[in-house]
Amino acid sequence: MTLLTVDGLRGGYVAADEIVRGASLSVAPGEIVSLIGPNGAGKSTLLKLIAGLLRPSAGRVSLQESEIAGLPVTAIGRLGLSFVPQEHNVFGTMTVRENLEMGAYQEPGRVRERIEALFARFPVLAQKRRAQARTLSGGQRQMLAMAMALMTAPRLLLLDEPSAGLSPKAAEELFDIIVALNRDGVAILMVEQNAVEALTVSARAYVLVLGQVAREGPASDLMADPSVRDLFLGG
Ligand SMILES: Nc1ncnc2c1ncn2[C@@H]1O[C@H](COP(=O)(O)OP(=O)(O)O)[C@@H](O)[C@H]1O
Ligand SMILES: [Mg+2]
Repeated sequence: MTLLTVDGLRGGYVAADEIVRGASLSVAPGEIVSLIGPNGAGKSTLLKLIAGLLRPSAGRVSLQESEIAGLPVTAIGRLGLSFVPQEHNVFGTMTVRENLEMGAYQEPGRVRERIEALFARFPVLAQKRRAQARTLSGGQRQMLAMAMALMTAPRLLLLDEPSAGLSPKAAEELFDIIVALNRDGVAILMVEQNAVEALTVSARAYVLVLGQVAREGPASDLMADPSVRDLFLGG
């Protein structure tokens, strides 16, 4: 049984310029899967095609029983997928609480309870609930972006480089949160440059090169593979 199935997905930013060239991958319910690969390989573009921010030119994306390729972001969100982009993922001049309210715009109702539940998971956000998002540290901002995405109680979370720009300590905290979320049943597909950390917490991984899956397998196998180590793990 798979939660997300991506099959032969193609697309990019303009029709003539294909960035993702027939990518296929899957995520099982409750699984953590990493997507690694060189800069410019199309990892972010692939996540945007899956999440509905870009429209695929070909291929299939299914979430449980629903075919979602080409659906609007909001429809995909209602089916249980949330996406945290790498950048511009919080509203800087709004408070932490207001950002979380924005995360609920698709599904108003019980907003207060949902925010309280997220404050319990992210105590630092509770402390900073009245602070503007732009005043948060990098790690706190990533937590806020993730908490916004969790407002819709997704079954699958797509994360684009959640640890980018964070100190090693903040990155470690963030990976701990990702693992805790996953234990509570949220499946995760994440793009990461910190490949060692990502593979350590992942069950499986894919290596994307030039818009196609070049390697795939159990995360531990990829981590032990000399060619993967040379390319992505610093030898
Ligand atoms: N907004 C955009 N408009 C046009 N091209 C883009 C845009 N964002 C990225 N690209 C191009 O898409 C290619 C893949 O980028 P990206 O998916 O961001 O790679 P990765 O996340 O693997 O580093 C790159 O050649 C990049 O220049
Ligand atoms: Mg990227």
